[in-house]
Amino acid sequence: MMRRNHLLTLAALSLGVLSGGVVRAEDSVKIGVILPMTGPSASTGRQIDAAIKLWMAQSGGKAGGKKVEVIIKDDAGVADTTRRLAQELVVNDKVVALAGFGLTPLALATAPIATQSKTPMVVMAAATSMITESSPYIVRTSFTLPQVSIGIAEWAAKNKIKKVVTLVADYGPGNDAEKFFTSQFQLNGGVITDKLRTPLRGADFAPVLQKVRDLSPDALFVFLPSGQGAQFMKQFGERGLDKAGIKLIATGDVTDDDQLNDMGDVALGVVNSHHYSAAHNTAVNKKYVADFQAANKFRPNFMSVGGYDGMRVIFKALDTTKGVGGDALLAAMKGQIFESPRGPVLIDAQTRDVVQDVYIRKVERVNGQLYNVEFDTIKSVKDPGKLK
Ligand code: DHB
Repeated sequence: MMRRNHLLTLAALSLGVLSGGVVRAEDSVKIGVILPMTGPSASTGRQIDAAIKLWMAQSGGKAGGKKVEVIIKDDAGVADTTRRLAQELVVNDKVVALAGFGLTPLALATAPIATQSKTPMVVMAAATSMITESSPYIVRTSFTLPQVSIGIAEWAAKNKIKKVVTLVADYGPGNDAEKFFTSQFQLNGGVITDKLRTPLRGADFAPVLQKVRDLSPDALFVFLPSGQGAQFMKQFGERGLDKAGIKLIATGDVTDDDQLNDMGDVALGVVNSHHYSAAHNTAVNKKYVADFQAANKFRPNFMSVGGYDGMRVIFKALDTTKGVGGDALLAAMKGQIFESPRGPVLIDAQTRDVVQDVYIRKVERVNGQLYNVEFDTIKSVKDPGKLK
């Protein structure tokens, strides 16, 4: 009897708190964002965090008639930490969506949690093709390496480049870049003379660059994750590879807007392919870059756009479900079409992956600053990694 009364009192108390509080639990929803805010991939966290804050400011932080609360957690780029934080966000904070994921291993570590808890998981950064196949609850707003590697392979083959050495970071996205660059280049008559790899965490490129110099190909194709481009470019110049007539071609991860302006003359003329440039010439992007730079003292890069568009996808889905999560929220994310700062975007309903234009760009100096200037567009590219 005593115990029963006690329970009733507790229930009454908590009801009182709920109805008397400023925001009742059911009037708000939470999104759990996990990013590398520290460690070697901290620039990815910094860019996406800034983009999320911009989206929250512009949207008023409301979706589906509810206040949206974003909880940002730092995994420092360590997969065990990502998994633990995801578990806590789902169980303790009851988030309606998980988001972020700065590197492929971090996304893969979290996929089982999304599946088991039926929580939509928006991959804003990681870009290995198979990530979306690791859980039916994953939706991707970044890109895939196969998607962006094919364009530069075609460009190279059509522009008098016959012999290429490839150099990639030795993990998921690097494997994808090497495989899809190679097959597309060979299909167009090119020859791959060697395939080199660097450790994900290793920023000393001197040994591989010496090897490339000795091999003396027409061009070196490079994929490195965001944050390593400046160091690579510096060593490429120091080793005199540019002077030796070895052309540098890459995915846009290397000529990353986050670092590009500090790379100096060695970056000038580097042709690369990617889905986003801060110099993308549309009204939507000009406004994005201006608003982003007014709020932060740095230029937005492709990671920021993955974060910004990821927020849009979650917000529009919450509008559709009136704040309900789970399978309904996932369904409302599929098939979304919108104009992003990068250009037109579709979330493919079958694959839950992003379909987007891929641009061929050249690093040029514009008004005293280095930019990836787009000069060709491949329209509506679906992830070629899914067409196996
Ligand atoms: C991944 C990380 C990056 O920083 C990048 O530019 C591309 C891919 C990844 O780990 O998936």
